[in-house]
Amino acid sequence: LDNGLMRTPPMGWLAWERFRCDIDCTDDPKNCISEDLFIDMADRLSEDGWRELGYVYVNIDDCWSSKQRDEKGRLQADPKRFPGGIPKLSRYLHDRGLKLGIYGDMGTLTCGGYPGTPLDKIEIDAQTFADWEVDMFKFDGCYSNETVQEKGYPLMSKALNATGRPIGYSCSWPAYQGGLPPKVNYTQLGEICNLWRNYGDIQDSWGSVVSIVDWFFDNQEVLIPAAGPGRWNDPDMLIIGDFALSMDQSRSQMALWAIMAAPLFMSNDLRTISSGARSILQNKMVISINQDPLGIQGRRILKEKSNIQVFWRPLSDGASALVFFSRRSDMPYRYKTSLKKLNYTTGSYKVYDVFTDKTTTLKDSTDFVVSVNPSGVVMWHVSAPAKLNQRHFDRRGNA
Ligand code: DGJ
Repeated sequence: LDNGLMRTPPMGWLAWERFRCDIDCTDDPKNCISEDLFIDMADRLSEDGWRELGYVYVNIDDCWSSKQRDEKGRLQADPKRFPGGIPKLSRYLHDRGLKLGIYGDMGTLTCGGYPGTPLDKIEIDAQTFADWEVDMFKFDGCYSNETVQEKGYPLMSKALNATGRPIGYSCSWPAYQGGLPPKVNYTQLGEICNLWRNYGDIQDSWGSVVSIVDWFFDNQEVLIPAAGPGRWNDPDMLIIGDFALSMDQSRSQMALWAIMAAPLFMSNDLRTISSGARSILQNKMVISINQDPLGIQGRRILKEKSNIQVFWRPLSDGASALVFFSRRSDMPYRYKTSLKKLNYTTGSYKVYDVFTDKTTTLKDSTDFVVSVNPSGVVMWHVSAPAKLNQRHFDRRGNA
């Protein structure tokens, strides 16, 4: 969507995967969906080095609202859990250089059973979010059918635009329609949404990460052309720092989300995150690969019989990123290849290993070995080639 927003994939924090619909603020005050939770996360983002790296969105998901609209028909936050209302939160975030995201549902109810936004409520809800100075809006799709969604998602895009406030627009529409053409029209999505969920919800398990990765790369020919500045495929939240992933698996999620040019929304507890998980999420080179200004989504270039897969993403200034991903479950695998075999042309390349911080120089023809841990990755940033032994020809072809 050409609204000037999200020219690189948005980054921040989103409540859903980690905190779900916990509304029990009496017995679980630290973890329930309440203004305190978002304030805590905002404090962590601004005090623990996240904001400076680009993690600026703090996004509310389902279960924030009251079960009833107000007397004027507007959505309202649950008064017990959000005593200051949404405007207080957006002020708190803006004062700290952060942005606020909120959630709604194109249908009669949200998935969690809170008031939805059927067609006749789209304008009033868009205006309410703008009045509250919200910066991003995720539009879920429970309790509506194909026909209604076909009307509602474009209408909401118009309604948000008509408020005059720049609001990033995240559409769950394709995820509710199977994520593939002909049911899903990615040209249209790129015109009306800044990002969209293509596939099912991530859960706190490695199996869930792997199933998402497989779906996105199995369908890469459809998905890659859909992405670009202002319009991104969204494979869902980062679960790094939660309970399921090992450090290797965490590096794998981070590396592959960077290759996919995916939005980086963490759903974890930033108050108690381990230093290991934090350093993966705060890795500057992975972030800069994810945020490359060309915004070209990367692809899987090899699926070896050995169960090593290779991914590649072109970056600006002739650079690129490579990821070697092991789907093995035995021991570190010594994968032997050369840049030439990975479609690199003649030249000498500076190679930076993103997670070990080591630089080497490699000629295209040089064989090398990377050791890839089970369910882990090796990720490289490859600089533009310094051409070797290349004669310079004039326009007549003379050396
Ligand atoms: C389904 C969405 O895909 C999730 O990300 C989350 O928003 C839940 N609904 C909330 O009910």
